[in-house]
This record gives sequence, C-alpha cells and structure tokens, in this order.
Amino acid sequence: MSHSFTIGIFGAGKVGTALARLGIAAGNSVLVSGSPRHTHTQMLLDVVAPGAVEAGSAEVMVRASDLVIIAVPFAKSDEIDYGLFTGTIVVDAMNYWPAVDGVVADIERAELGNSEFIAMRNPRGRWVKSLNHLGYQELAEAAAEGTRGRLAIGLAGDDGDAKAVVSAWLDDIGFDPVDVGALADGRRLETGGAIFGRSLSRGEFALSLGLVES
Ligand SMILES: NC(=O)c1ccc[n+]([C@@H]2O[C@H](COP(=O)([O-])OP(=O)(O)OC[C@H]3O[C@@H](n4cnc5c(N)ncnc54)[C@H](OP(=O)(O)O)[C@@H]3O)[C@@H](O)[C@H]2O)c1
Repeated sequence: MSHSFTIGIFGAGKVGTALARLGIAAGNSVLVSGSPRHTHTQMLLDVVAPGAVEAGSAEVMVRASDLVIIAVPFAKSDEIDYGLFTGTIVVDAMNYWPAVDGVVADIERAELGNSEFIAMRNPRGRWVKSLNHLGYQELAEAAAEGTRGRLAIGLAGDDGDAKAVVSAWLDDIGFDPVDVGALADGRRLETGGAIFGRSLSRGEFALSLGLVES
C-alpha cells in the first residue's frame, strides 16, 4: 500500500541522495537540508535526485516532514539542532567509524549503541535506528512490492508507533522492514554485527539475528 509521506533528509551525500531518489520514485515529497558548508545543494539535487527540494531551513524541513533521516557523517552530527526533534520521528542512519570520524571519547566511554548515544541529544525525539547497515549502492537496489530479491532493512526503537510509520515508509520505498526491538537492540545493526553490510532477504535477515526459529 502506498502512503503519501513527506520526508526530510539531513545530508545530501551518498546516502542522503540515494534515499531522496527512492523517496521521489515512491511519490514522497522530499526535502533536504544540506551541508552548511555547501551552496549548491539544490543544483546537486536537480541532477542526482530530481524532484527533491532543498529546505529553506532545518526547522522548516522538520516541521513539514512525517519523518526525518540523519545521513551526515557521525563526526559532524553535533552540528544539527536536536532541539527541533521534540515529537518528531527521527531515523538515525549514521554509523560511527573511528577511522573516519576520529575517536569520539564520549561514545567510547558511554558504551552505548550509536543511536542511543545520539538520542540522548533529545530524548523527546521519536528515535528509530535504521538504514545504516546497507551500503548506499545496495540502498539503491530497493525493489517494488512483491519483487523477488527485495532486501531486508532492520529497524530498532522504543516508540512502537514511530517504528510502524518508518516500517510503512521503508516498504513504500522498496524494502522489507524487520523490527529488531528496542533502540538498545539497534546495536545488532551496527558495524561488526551479523547482518552489517549484507544484502539479505527478510527471512535470511531474521534468521541471521536469531529472530525466527531455523
Ligand atoms: N556510504 C554508505 O554506504 C553508508 C551506508 C549507510 C550509512 N552510512 C552512514 O550515513 C552517514 C552519511 O554517509 P554518506 O556516505 O552519505 O556520507 P557523505 O557522502 O560524506 O555525505 C554526507 C553529507 O552530509 C553533509 N553534511 C555534513 N554536516 C552536515 C550538516 N550539519 N547538515 C547537513 N548536511 C551535512 C556533508 O557535507 P560536508 O562536505 O560539509 O561534510 C555531505 O554532503 C554516515 O554516518 C555513514 O556512516 C553510510
């Protein structure tokens, strides 16, 4: 079933633009908040994700969106105004890569999943961890409902209603969503985990995480 989502995306890089394309293809209204260091975001979108629109401001984007996705480098994620997210469904697609992001002492000390750590920036956001475990090329392989070879995407969060919205959206853009549990369970979607970087069907994905009987 197709819904009419408005999505907001922080970051117009590899992941952000791949998701923008999928959103446009699914009939979403797609708003993008690009890097504060770039002046050409709309021009870029016109080429790589035609139909996506640069948001006038992050605030305008968040207010207009049914869900927002954070797809910026983890090391730059503290530039985002998390105060905007109160009551908002926020999908954290980021991975913490010390080799790329540098060692973030706070997260190493906290011994939390990346998304639990980020969610502490606004506990009143409706946080869902998802989309982080497939590469951007694999994300581009989303497929129509009923198509063989549809890829599974895991999601984790503490707000069941928010997860239901994100699941419906993932289905619309061409993935089979698999709920892996609470936000803390989202650690199972992170680097080094059983499904990270693997293109799996829903059944294979669930089996890999022990979510179904073999
Ligand atoms: N690459 C993948 O296959 C993949 C797959 C799943 C998840 N991820 C995760 O998704 C995130 C993005 O990865 P990516 O590969 O798309 O990175 P990318 O290609 O480097 O794109 C990130 C974009 O976000 C922009 N940005 C930085 N700070 C921003 C801000 N405050 N507001 C809005 N935009 C901002 C960057 O601009 P600047 O030039 O200013 O930095 C850049 O254009 C990372 O956390 C990554 O671990 C990546």
